[in-house]
Amino acid sequence: MSQKAEIRPDLVWPTDVTDVPKEVFVREDIFEQELEDIFYGPYWHPVAHEAEIPNPGDFKLFDLGRVPLLIARGDDNVVRVFINACSHRGNQVETSPCGNSKGFECPYHRWSFKNDGSLLNCPGSEDFSPKFSKEKYGLKEVKQQNLYGLILVTLSDNPPEFNDWVGRTAETIKNQIGHEGGLKLLGYQKVKYASNWKAYMDNDGYHAPLLHTGFRLLGWQSGGGRQFYTEHCHGGAESQLKPGKSMGVLKDESLIEFKDADWDSGSFVSGLFPITIMVKHLDCISIRFAIPRSVDSTEVHYAYFAKNDDSEEMALHRVRQASNLLGPCGMISMEDAAIFQRIQIGSHSPGVATFQKGVKDLHTIPTDILQNDETTNIPRWEYYRKLMGFHKEGEA
Ligand code: FES
Ligand SMILES: [Fe+2]
Repeated sequence: MSQKAEIRPDLVWPTDVTDVPKEVFVREDIFEQELEDIFYGPYWHPVAHEAEIPNPGDFKLFDLGRVPLLIARGDDNVVRVFINACSHRGNQVETSPCGNSKGFECPYHRWSFKNDGSLLNCPGSEDFSPKFSKEKYGLKEVKQQNLYGLILVTLSDNPPEFNDWVGRTAETIKNQIGHEGGLKLLGYQKVKYASNWKAYMDNDGYHAPLLHTGFRLLGWQSGGGRQFYTEHCHGGAESQLKPGKSMGVLKDESLIEFKDADWDSGSFVSGLFPITIMVKHLDCISIRFAIPRSVDSTEVHYAYFAKNDDSEEMALHRVRQASNLLGPCGMISMEDAAIFQRIQIGSHSPGVATFQKGVKDLHTIPTDILQNDETTNIPRWEYYRKLMGFHKEGEA
């Protein structure tokens, strides 16, 4: 997609599974290669949920790496994903982050497109070159898949078979967003973290009770459950819910009530490789769509949803939980932003970041993934190392 570097970045990876070279968080050449290999490579990337654009004519913009996308529901009610660049000279066609429109007009030479992407008008076309025809110059459509309303795209000509790629994560996602009556969008919190995208994704279970004051004060620990990790580097956790205890810190205890949750299997977190996190916890349903902006900047759009058939009171309850608990400034998780930035600053120093908690063997990738450990992070780094072609010390 971008200009490919002639020389791939090189990096010697340490032999101990605990260690990750800090360089991967700060090197520009590695970031550029990641865009090519991962974000424009043979993977499926969530870019929207169809509940964000529920009506004919609705659209939203999103970027896959640096590639601008326009996700639009046509008048025919079909959701399509286009490259947000004019088929004439490549000008960005739409600039509003979301809206509703019968079509899109490029301001440069006024070519206009219907909301199904077809070219409607192009002034002066009687003088266009012999190769021109309106049919050939619609907006360029991107391959997509739909999983319980989640729209995933790929720019690769050879993407993996979708069901194989998503694997058992599909079950967790069904439990998160597969509500029969569908979802409705409540709103967004959008934030830019001053960190590399991998530092954002490298969050672990070990840190929560230590870093997060709100986590401790609200007695925020999930009960027993299952964790999993797939061969394509997706991960998930399904846990019993435990009631939080406000220990007198909340004026209104109803904030942490469960009003629509199954206590035995009520908390679901999943991470789809490389950068999408989905959470259904308490009565909060959220998808975090992320964009790696640069080597040291990651933008995350926290989209929050209610169920379509929720009462007004229930939807309001979800809004309060969404904005106050697990978002970028939520009571449970607000310190994360500072930590992401401090990791980024600290990574401009030699050496390795190291995982300790739960690691029993320095040369075996752990497969028993436990809550509150750092072992979950290790298979993800090994998948990344192989994908990027970084050799281990002493390997040919
Ligand atoms: S670049 Fe869009 S009309 Fe010319
Ligand atoms: Fe956290």
